[in-house]
Amino acid sequence: MKENTFEFQYEVYDNVNELNAQDAWLLNEARSVTENAYAPYSNFHVGAVAILANGEIVAGTNQENASYPVGICAERVLLGTVATQHPNIEIQSIAISYNSDTVKSDHPISPCGMCRQALSEYETRMKKPIRLILGGQEGKIYIIKSAGLLLPFAFTKKELS
Ligand code: THU
Repeated sequence: MKENTFEFQYEVYDNVNELNAQDAWLLNEARSVTENAYAPYSNFHVGAVAILANGEIVAGTNQENASYPVGICAERVLLGTVATQHPNIEIQSIAISYNSDTVKSDHPISPCGMCRQALSEYETRMKKPIRLILGGQEGKIYIIKSAGLLLPFAFTKKELS
């Protein structure tokens, strides 16, 4: 028997002022775009903003539905929009933030499992890591070098051929 270990490193910042100018701007955009989320059921408004390799900025927000499973997360709205409007342009970084009437937005959230799968496949498709900048409206910020690090043992298209 052999035991393997998986670990990854990520950066922790105390607040937005510690980030470089581009990352700070992107996170602030994600914080503001939470206003465009449609989340009447959870009251949890998520914003995801990407900067692409050519400098374009694209945003996504969660869009809920009275038929709950129809709702879609901000990250997958964003990936679908990037893929459609800017095909073949790699994503450099995505900032993700949230806002809520019911819980404090004072720490980073990380993408749900389904979004991790989608982010991981987008990286494979573009052959480029997607940096994640995760932060609430205030509080600590995490930077993760590649979204795929959040999904060890990912199921990939390799298994299907
Ligand atoms: N949500 C996102 O949009 N992204 C995440 O990373 C986590 C959760 C949404 C889904 C749902 O509309 C609400 O947040 C509460 O789960």
